[in-house]
Amino acid sequence: MESVASASWWAAGVLYQIYPRSFQDSNDDGIGDLRGIIDRLGYLSDLGVDAIWLSPIFPSPMADFGYDVADYVGIDPIFGTMDDFDALVLTAHARGLKVILDLVPNHSSDQHPWFIESRSSRDNPKRDWYIWRDPAPDGGPPTNWLSEFGGSGWEYDEATGQYYYHAFLKQQPDLNWRNPEVRAAIYEAMRFWLRKGVDGFRVDVIWHLIKDDQFRDNPPNPDFRPGMPPHAALIPIYSADRPETLDVVAELRSVIEEFDHRLLIGEIYLPIERLVAYYGAELKGAQLPFNFALLSTQWHAREIAALIDRYEQALPSGAWPNWVLGNHDRPRVASRVGPAQARVAAMLLLTLRGTPTMYYGDELGMEQVEIAPEDVQDPFEKNVPGIGVGRDGCRTPMQWDASANAGFSDARPWLPLAPDATQDCAANLRADAQSILNLYRALLRLRRELPQLSLGNYQPLAAEGDLLLYRRHHQGQSVLVALNLGPDPISVASDAIGLDGEVLLSTMLDRASERVGATLDLRGNEGIIVGRAPEEVV
Ligand code: NOJ
Repeated sequence: MESVASASWWAAGVLYQIYPRSFQDSNDDGIGDLRGIIDRLGYLSDLGVDAIWLSPIFPSPMADFGYDVADYVGIDPIFGTMDDFDALVLTAHARGLKVILDLVPNHSSDQHPWFIESRSSRDNPKRDWYIWRDPAPDGGPPTNWLSEFGGSGWEYDEATGQYYYHAFLKQQPDLNWRNPEVRAAIYEAMRFWLRKGVDGFRVDVIWHLIKDDQFRDNPPNPDFRPGMPPHAALIPIYSADRPETLDVVAELRSVIEEFDHRLLIGEIYLPIERLVAYYGAELKGAQLPFNFALLSTQWHAREIAALIDRYEQALPSGAWPNWVLGNHDRPRVASRVGPAQARVAAMLLLTLRGTPTMYYGDELGMEQVEIAPEDVQDPFEKNVPGIGVGRDGCRTPMQWDASANAGFSDARPWLPLAPDATQDCAANLRADAQSILNLYRALLRLRRELPQLSLGNYQPLAAEGDLLLYRRHHQGQSVLVALNLGPDPISVASDAIGLDGEVLLSTMLDRASERVGATLDLRGNEGIIVGRAPEEVV
């Protein structure tokens, strides 16, 4: 039975994350902006994605590059003006592209007027908008909770003699989501953007929203080892993923439901079994709780097949799956699995059942860029240096063409470009018939043409050695996806798996229309899609 969700635009659609600082600069300050994005919408239409998600563009002191919001209903001048934003929505919609914003409700900036008021005195009406606690009896922090970015999660405020909690930087105080006034204020901010026509939100750290009402200490993590990020020393059972969070998620969803065809995505790093709870009772939670499992799974056929099975089985009835291969917090996929496998990864992402989210530049095979110590921007790396947590390397400027700064900006970019940026740029790759960019374009086109690929069910066939084989089936039509996750050739007997039809696409873009014979032969690092050509499909 088809799920209700599969009738929605976002079920068949493909999301594309833009990190606005790094996409396109239009005013020569070395930082990307909204006008820059508008100028590049043609590229995104040509690529074939359905929606763009913009990392935060709101007024911010940029302590965490926009994830520290000082005004939930404005545009930071670095990115442009509200007129620019309106023009972006209008132009994107005219091109058939949806626009998703980043909502950061767990914490604001410490420069937000709400927090300035809140910290001004213990009896300020906004005091309870944030999480203030008395010191522990020894004068130290109220609990052992740690900041994700290093150190205690509590910051002492001399003037009022209490600590406030911040799950991230001390410049990002956590809002108190147990306070109905806070909820109402954020819901109003959401309506502001929804009225402007935005098509939904990706909600930052949605599983952090509610903290333990008894403020109990988190237990130690027995698996913690030196070299891991310091916050991993504790298991955050009391500071995140509290049961009451799901009530808030349901409320966020009901705000979304006041408008037609909008989407609520939750950023959630939790094991699959907990993650799926965020679909909510009767699926009234997030329509897409982000599934990041591919970011950390071992790149082996059996591991990936087991992961897909586990996820598919854990999904509540009618829930629509989704898959993510990269984002602005994690190392680039092309560096993690290598450039040859990056193509196979693209085919995997775009042929699994569920909404895929692409990360800007992955379609160019952009790799993690090494950042010299003096160029480091990321506050996480600055706080916890040298253990590889830095996120700058996956946030480097988009590589457009062979001109200076790869066409990103006429000024020195805020982060260095990849050394090969002017070579491996969109213009060159678009002109190269077998490039990874053209592979992404072909995959997106095929996904659009064949409902088996977008909406079909998933049937696992084999995961042996480096071979991962599955079928996608929809209303009597099916395609088969065969991925070689290793460098050696693989032969599969066609009869054994009921192979029929022709090669619709190879990751190497050189086998179109090849009839499948007695064996299906995959070259090393090759993935193929086999089926009946779209025009044969009735
Ligand atoms: C998750 C975001 O993706 C990350 O970039 C940010 O630093 C934290 N949330 C804090 O907002």
